Parts: sequence; structure tokens; C-alpha cells
Amino acid sequence: MDQGLTMSRNQNITDVLMVGATGSIGQPAVRAAQRHGLHPRALVRDPRRAEQLLPGVELVQGDLADPVSLRHAVSGAEALVLTHRSSGGPRPDARAHVDYGGARNILAALDGAQPRTALMTSIYATRSDIPGVTPWKRRSERLLRASGLPYTIVPPCWFDHVGPTQRRLVLEQGGTADGGIARDQIAETLVGSLLTGTALGKTFELIAAGGQEPSDWDGFFGDLKSDESGSLDGVLDPADLPVEAEPQAVRADLDAVRSLRGANG
Ligand SMILES: NC(=O)c1ccc[n+]([C@@H]2O[C@H](COP(=O)([O-])OP(=O)(O)OC[C@H]3O[C@@H](n4cnc5c(N)ncnc54)[C@H](OP(=O)(O)O)[C@@H]3O)[C@@H](O)[C@H]2O)c1
Repeated sequence: MDQGLTMSRNQNITDVLMVGATGSIGQPAVRAAQRHGLHPRALVRDPRRAEQLLPGVELVQGDLADPVSLRHAVSGAEALVLTHRSSGGPRPDARAHVDYGGARNILAALDGAQPRTALMTSIYATRSDIPGVTPWKRRSERLLRASGLPYTIVPPCWFDHVGPTQRRLVLEQGGTADGGIARDQIAETLVGSLLTGTALGKTFELIAAGGQEPSDWDGFFGDLKSDESGSLDGVLDPADLPVEAEPQAVRADLDAVRSLRGANG
């Protein structure tokens, strides 16, 4: 996908920790990082299985539920790509525990380091009006914004609902986008966002449309509105999740990531 792509490459990044690297977006994200000359390290729970999925890729064993393992994994990372998610499993609170809790544990493990971070969340992450949508993805976005890390947040639209001629990328903000996107397009956008300053501090939904893939990523991200400095929400997100009404544990997590920021920056 990076044929003919121009990007100013103004971030000094080589070592990228890929969280969720064995997943359906994580695998193409690792390949995208390699194509861009980065050195991806894959956080994996089961190295023997991961070796089959990611041949030749440096693996670091760890579990998002095990903060000690994460400290070693994040050490030295100049960037993070977060595409993890709970596979559901027996825990009814799996989204809180893995999707949100994993992001919280990674941020805590950084202990004040500030790697450039790309976080994938989900279509409808901010849509409290849609049945079945929980706020845990949105809460993970909020933690990242509160952390002070240089970030880009990408809630993609529906995986695979896209044809081969739909290579043009459309970025929208505000949580109302709907449409399809190919997995390699998501992966390329996440990695591309690390490499240009114009994606910094931005949150955008990602959809594919008919046409060619972007050739100038700096300009492409540059047209978007930035999130407001100090805000927990994306620039056009609905103001319908007041922090004061959040569970006490969620507010404590926000305070904890803010205090790490204060201690180190
Ligand atoms: N389907 C759609 O149309 C759509 C649209 C927009 C957004 N999304 C969002 O995209 C996400 C799915 O992405 P995907 O398809 O890439 O997911 P996936 O294939 O299920 O991959 C999930 C990754 O998370 C890792 N993981 C899970 N628990 C972990 C833990 N405790 N410690 C370390 N790693 C852990 C998995 O590792 P293992 O290999 O060890 O399990 C795997 O690498 C979901 O959150 C969904 O909401 C989906």
C-alpha cells in the first residue's frame, strides 16, 4: 500500500511495540511497520503460536493482565501500536478487563516514558445510543489522552466491507461514520500515523471509498481537526459521558495516568 506514498517521516522512531500483534489487524500492522523500515517487536502471550503467525519477527512474551510482564515489554519502545482486544471468553467483563484494562496496564508500565502511540478502537466507540456498545473502548481512548503521550486514535469502520477498487481513505470525526475498510488499510494508517507530525493528537474514523490510496499522508492527516488540549474526548465526540458520573475505578485510573505524566513531564 505504500507505493508512491510520501511522508515527511518527522518522527525519530525505530523500535515499535505491537500490542495485539497476532490479531487480524496486528499482523498486517507488523508487516506495515517492516515496510516502513521500523523494527516491530510483538507482544505475545504464546511465543510458539506467534512464531507461526509472525515468522522472523522479534517476540516479547507478555500478557496484558500481567503488569510485570509489560514493564519488560515496553522498555525501550519508541512507539506503540495498540490493536489488542478481548476474545470474549468466559469473563463477562472481558472488554473492561482486556480492551480497557490492557491499555491502562500498558500506560502504567511505561512509568512515565512517552512513546508515540497509535490506538485502534472501534466504530461506534462513542455511541451510547447504539445497543450493545459499551463505553470501554471510549474509556481506553480517554486514558490515552489523559496520559499525555503523543497519540493518534483510530476507530475504524467495518472490517472487510469493501471492494478491491475502494482504496481511497476517508477520515471522519465525531463518531457517526459508517462504512467498510480493509484490514491492510487500517494497519497502514496506524503505522503511517506514527511517522508524521500531522497525525498527532488526532482522533478519526476510517472508511474506504472508491478511488486511489493516498499519496501524501502528511497532507491527508493535516486536514483533520486536532483534539482539544487537555480534553478527554475526541474533538467532535458527543459530550454524553461525564467524568463525574464515571465509576470510581475509572476516575482513579485517569488520575493515575495523569500523575505519571506529572511526574515525568
Ligand atoms: N469487526 C469489525 O468490523 C470491527 C470494526 C471496527 C473495530 N473493530 C474492533 O477491532 C478489534 C478486533 O481486532 P482484531 O480483529 O485484530 O482482533 P483479534 O484478531 O481478536 O486480535 C486480538 C489481539 O489481542 C491479543 N490479546 C488478547 N488478549 C490479550 C492479553 N491478555 N494479553 C496480550 N494480548 C492479548 C490477541 O493475542 P492472542 O493471539 O494471544 O489471543 C490478539 O493478538 C475489536 O476490538 C473490535 O471492537 C472491529
